[in-house]
Amino acid sequence: MVSRLIQVEDFDLVIFGATGDLARRKILPGLFRRHAAGQFPDTVRIIGAARTATDEAAFRADTAAAIAEFDPARAQSPDLPAFLDRLHYVALDATGDEGWAQLSALMRPGVIRAFYFSVAPVLFGALAERLAGHGIADGDSRIVVEKPFGRDLGSARALNETLARHFDEGQIYRIDHYLGKETVQNLMAVRFANMLFEPLWNAHYIDHVQITVAETMGVAGRGAYYDQSGAMRDMIQNHLMQLVCLIAMEPPYHFDPAAVRDEKLKVIRALEPLAPGDIVRGQYVADGDTPGYLDDVENPDSRTESFVALKLRIANWRWQGVPFYLRTGKRLRARTSEIAIVFRLPPHSIFDDSGPQKANQLVIRLQPNEGMNLKVMIKEPGPGGMRLVQVPLDMSFAEALGRDGTDMPDAYERLITDVIRGNQTLFMRGDEVEAAWAWTDPVIAAWEASKTQPEPYDPGTSGPEESLGLMHRDGRRWREIKT
Ligand code: BG6
Repeated sequence: MVSRLIQVEDFDLVIFGATGDLARRKILPGLFRRHAAGQFPDTVRIIGAARTATDEAAFRADTAAAIAEFDPARAQSPDLPAFLDRLHYVALDATGDEGWAQLSALMRPGVIRAFYFSVAPVLFGALAERLAGHGIADGDSRIVVEKPFGRDLGSARALNETLARHFDEGQIYRIDHYLGKETVQNLMAVRFANMLFEPLWNAHYIDHVQITVAETMGVAGRGAYYDQSGAMRDMIQNHLMQLVCLIAMEPPYHFDPAAVRDEKLKVIRALEPLAPGDIVRGQYVADGDTPGYLDDVENPDSRTESFVALKLRIANWRWQGVPFYLRTGKRLRARTSEIAIVFRLPPHSIFDDSGPQKANQLVIRLQPNEGMNLKVMIKEPGPGGMRLVQVPLDMSFAEALGRDGTDMPDAYERLITDVIRGNQTLFMRGDEVEAAWAWTDPVIAAWEASKTQPEPYDPGTSGPEESLGLMHRDGRRWREIKT
């Protein structure tokens, strides 16, 4: 089944930080796939801008190398030369004057202009100021900003104010790449395009929700960033928060930016403050020759967490009394992300000696093998009595759609085309980001004040023992972390 492809309008996209890791790993390969799919008019330009004094030929060669490295299946694609022809390069000083006149000369009049800030947030202000000052950005231009969007409420607010000096909120696209993931968007389709689930989607029928985002990688290679951040800032405040919003929000009146983001904001504002006993933070230790967190970040005194598990509550009618258990961490047993909606048990069993009753679960797998699994009770075949057994109704989205799984679009492809289309639905609004920081700030501040060490955990496990206790003490269990 091939999805309908609608070309976007003509555009010039400038990538600031075009020689950096994100551009090479995600943005340029993603743009190439959209190009190869035929989504871009022939005249579209992609302009790399960075401090590096390289030239156009070298930028094109490096982009081909990046595609070979991060999307090897497409390295020999016949579409590659035409894509490389779209690329231009300007060596530019974000905080000075060098390069801006050349950039201005490269931009075509009368087409959409988008500017991707794939640089450290300290440069956002300087870039915004120069884009406006040199008349390169106009009222219809869009800017795309990456996380981390601040490191607390104060810095996020300052960033919002800086950007607002030169751009309207309607021009600012704050990326959380989880919102670009197909299965994350599917959460909305499952909830709001089916009659089956929404009537049950509340405290009357749901016992609890579990969200797990587990990674096997450590933080080696990005220790300097990560050690200043930690799992709470790096994953919970943004990616997992967005998942909570999509699971918990009320139906928006329409699938449009204002309606969806208004509903998400209400969820974040309804989060109860976290109690210290409802959070566990962990840090992976060394295992044989595999370095531990402290080695990876080259900071023997670090108290930064590489794992967080927590229980949150949403203070509104729909979710009264329904805990949401979240956990995420590095160097865990498997790379897997899933959401499990665990329903209540039926109020009364009519079957005698039927074996233990198990609660229905709807498990939405974000990665790998995106899909859905609904666990239901049925009768075990055979004569003699009524033995019940739980079985999965399992669906892989790729299989169901007749795709091989490798052609599922990457989050960045979807998000960049949305920027060109001017659709902000899958981007975070300034007030959403601030509300999320307002909720996480007190927790991080308490950790910093306490001077205690995160709980150690062995690589290849499910995280620290204490995180299991978080559920056991409520008489519940985490689902196993496995692929
Ligand atoms: C990034 C975090 O935003 O998301 C990383 O900074 C993390 O630490 C990554 O590894 C996870 O993204 P994904 O798409 O691999 O689940």
